[in-house]
Amino acid sequence: MASKLLIQRELPAHIQFTQSLSCPIEGSLSDSTAHSLTLEQLVQMSANGFDKLNALELTYAPLKGSAPLRTAIVNFHHQLNHHQCPLNEDNVLTFCGAQEALSAIYQCLLQPDDEIIVVTPNYPSLSNMAEKSGCIVKPIELSALKNWQFNIEDVKARISKKTKLIVINSPHNPTGSIIDSDLAEQILLLAKAYDCYLLADDVSQASNYNNLALSHRFLDYDKAIVVSVMSKSFGLAGIRIGWVVSQNKAILKQLLAIKSLSSICCSAIDERLAEIALQQSEKIIALNNQIIKTNIEHFNAFIQTHSDIFQWHPPQAGLLSLVEVNTEQPIELWARGLAEQTGLLVLPACLFGQAGQYFRLGLGKNNFKFLLTKLDEYVSS
Ligand SMILES: Cc1ncc(COP(=O)(O)O)c(C=O)c1O
Repeated sequence: MASKLLIQRELPAHIQFTQSLSCPIEGSLSDSTAHSLTLEQLVQMSANGFDKLNALELTYAPLKGSAPLRTAIVNFHHQLNHHQCPLNEDNVLTFCGAQEALSAIYQCLLQPDDEIIVVTPNYPSLSNMAEKSGCIVKPIELSALKNWQFNIEDVKARISKKTKLIVINSPHNPTGSIIDSDLAEQILLLAKAYDCYLLADDVSQASNYNNLALSHRFLDYDKAIVVSVMSKSFGLAGIRIGWVVSQNKAILKQLLAIKSLSSICCSAIDERLAEIALQQSEKIIALNNQIIKTNIEHFNAFIQTHSDIFQWHPPQAGLLSLVEVNTEQPIELWARGLAEQTGLLVLPACLFGQAGQYFRLGLGKNNFKFLLTKLDEYVSS
C-alpha cells in the first residue's frame, strides 16, 4: 500500500481569495461552521467539566488520541448511523482537524495514476490533494437544474477497475444537498463490487435539522473510512480535533504512522474539550440546528425582497448552500466590491469548482441576520 508525500506549495483557492482581500473583514456570510460556544459555556455544560480540565496533566496526548475521547467518537457515529459491525476505541484515530485526517488518508491510499471519484463542486482538498498526488480525478458534476443532486448512475458511469477511491461528502459543501440512506447503500454496494475504498466526509452529518434519512452503514465495509470533526456541526473549530473511524486495522496503522510524522499527537487540552463536547453532543447539536433553521427562515425572507437579484435552493441539511446572484459583474469582482464596501466576506463558488454566478452561503452563525443587513445595504445602494 501507498504512498507519495503530498507537498502543497500554493494556498487553496478559497483561502487565497480571503488572504488577497486588503480591506478589514468584519463578518463572513460563507463560514462553514456552526455557532461557537465560549470555553466557559462548553465546560459549564458538563457537571464535572471544570474538574476534568483542571486535573489534566499537560503532557503529550496519546498518539492515537485519548481512550475516552475515542470511545465517545464511536458512540457518536453509532447514534447517527446503522452499521452493525462492533466498533470500539481501537477503530478510531484522532487528528488535528479533519484536514489533517484527509491529508493522511490521501497519502495512505493513493498513488500516481489511481482513479478517484469526487463530487464537484467540493471542499477543495478533496480533489486537489488527489490531483497533486498524480491521480486521475473523475468528477461527478452537480448542477442547480438537478437540485445539486446526483444518482447511482452518475457513479456507475465513472467507476472502473482502476477506481481506487470514492469520496463522498453529505451534507455537501458547498451545495447543501444530501446523500440519503438509499443512495448511500447503493454507493456502498458499488464500492464493494469494485473493491475500492470509500471515504465519507461526514463533517456536518449531525446538522440534520429536517430529520432526513442521513444514516448509513459504511462502517460495515472494511474499505470504508469515515471522517468527522469538532468544527462543523459542533461549531467548535477552536478545538482542533478531527478523527477517522474505520474497521480496517491495517489502514489505521498506516494513518498512525503518517500522523506520527505530522502532528505526532493532538493537544491534550483539545482532546479533553472534545470529549466534553461529544458527551454533550445532543444539547450542542440541538442548539446549533435551531440557529441554522432560523437563519434559513431569515434568508427566505431576505430573498423574497430581493428576488430580482438572488436565487437559491435552501440546503436539505448541513450548514451551507449556494446562492445565485443576478449581476453583470463576474462574481469574484462582485464579492470583492462587497468586501471593500461593507467588510462582509462571501466566497464565490468558483473557488470550490462551481462555474456560474454563485456564492457559498454559511447558515450556522447567530449574527447571520445582522450580516444580512450589510448585504442588503450593498445591493440596495
Ligand atoms: C467537507 C469538509 N471536509 C473537511 C473539512 C476540514 O475541516 P477542518 O478545517 O475543521 O479540519 C472542511 C472544512 O471546511 C469541509 O468543509
